[in-house]
Amino acid sequence: MAYYRSAGEIPPKRHTQFRRPDGGLYYEELMGEEGFFSDSSLLYHRGVPSAIVDSRVWELPDMRTIPNHPLKPLHLKLHELFPGNDWKAADVVTGRRLLLGNGDVRIAYVAAGESSPLYRNAIGDECVYVEDGEATLETMFGVLTVRKGDYAIIPRSTVHRWVPTGEGPLRAYCVEANSHITPPKRYLSRYGQLLEHSPYCERDLHAPGEPFVVEQGDVEVFTKHRGHGPSGLVGSIVVYPTHPFDVIGWDGCLYPYTFNVSDFEPITGRVHQPPPAHQVFEGYNFVICNFVPRKVDYHPLAVPVPYYHSNVDSDEVMFYVDGDYEARKGSGIAKGSITLHPGGHSHGPQPAAIEAALGKEYFDELAVMVDTFRPLEIGEAGVDSDDGAYAWSWSGRGPEG
Ligand SMILES: [Fe+2]
Repeated sequence: MAYYRSAGEIPPKRHTQFRRPDGGLYYEELMGEEGFFSDSSLLYHRGVPSAIVDSRVWELPDMRTIPNHPLKPLHLKLHELFPGNDWKAADVVTGRRLLLGNGDVRIAYVAAGESSPLYRNAIGDECVYVEDGEATLETMFGVLTVRKGDYAIIPRSTVHRWVPTGEGPLRAYCVEANSHITPPKRYLSRYGQLLEHSPYCERDLHAPGEPFVVEQGDVEVFTKHRGHGPSGLVGSIVVYPTHPFDVIGWDGCLYPYTFNVSDFEPITGRVHQPPPAHQVFEGYNFVICNFVPRKVDYHPLAVPVPYYHSNVDSDEVMFYVDGDYEARKGSGIAKGSITLHPGGHSHGPQPAAIEAALGKEYFDELAVMVDTFRPLEIGEAGVDSDDGAYAWSWSGRGPEG
């Protein structure tokens, strides 16, 4: 995110002596992407950021995946994954369950009531969409207040902790990249400013405004990193002699931030707008789009629901968050559902939805979509929440007749 910010105390000149009130030096750390050739921030620590006293195995939740074979579109019911009061004992980091994944991105879901441990994802950026609930997101850059509809973008290796603050479950849809997650390049000037035709701008992005310092010794950080486990990733619990939240100031263009989906200004037209009009973020080999409440196509003969489409290079994951998703009427899709429309399967509206949508001027719907350019495999939570019937919803019958 090439948009400069600063918080707390920083010295007037980078890489120069910066002293504490007691005369000792603060420890400067550059956190940067792509080997000093992309966005970075400078952080000023009270403690030595590389000092550790222990490292032991963190057994990650089940990260194995199975191919979507034989090929089928799927309907997964996420709210069934945390029945009853199960959410109360779950946290956003260790409780998330894997729905779908490939070599570029993993999609997991959790309904949480507990505070998470300190967490560092050293594999890639995370985009956590908050379906419901509220939380504080404590990070080494400061604290973010997170609410329903927020995307929290957390850069790779940012130490952070999720603390639910609402009465009910914090429902988090977690998109873990193996890369960085940024606004779409076509919305950025060559120097990184969001352009006039972008559906949002810098004012809509919320970053920590002041440092957050915690004094504590021997602190565990649950660290997800590259290795030889299932899906090519493993976990370690690394113990630091001083708390990683010891940054008294930082500046730069790399930091966590939130963006609320209600601040996305939809792009509409006389006839149906293709999904790229709804794009909000992108990572390597995947994009994130959102379908927000909006006026729909105003040509007198417009068909407001999508045409059938065979996006031959993509697997499409649609998460139905709110409203009444017009194109899926008659399919059993409800709030908290996701559908997987894999490459090799043409998809579009359930037939009755087309006539039902004619003449409509407004769609009250909210959905978050992830399109991947490599096929997705199915995780344990995908297997567990599959409705088993969606594939036959367009024809009205399956192999049993
Ligand atoms: Fe689609």
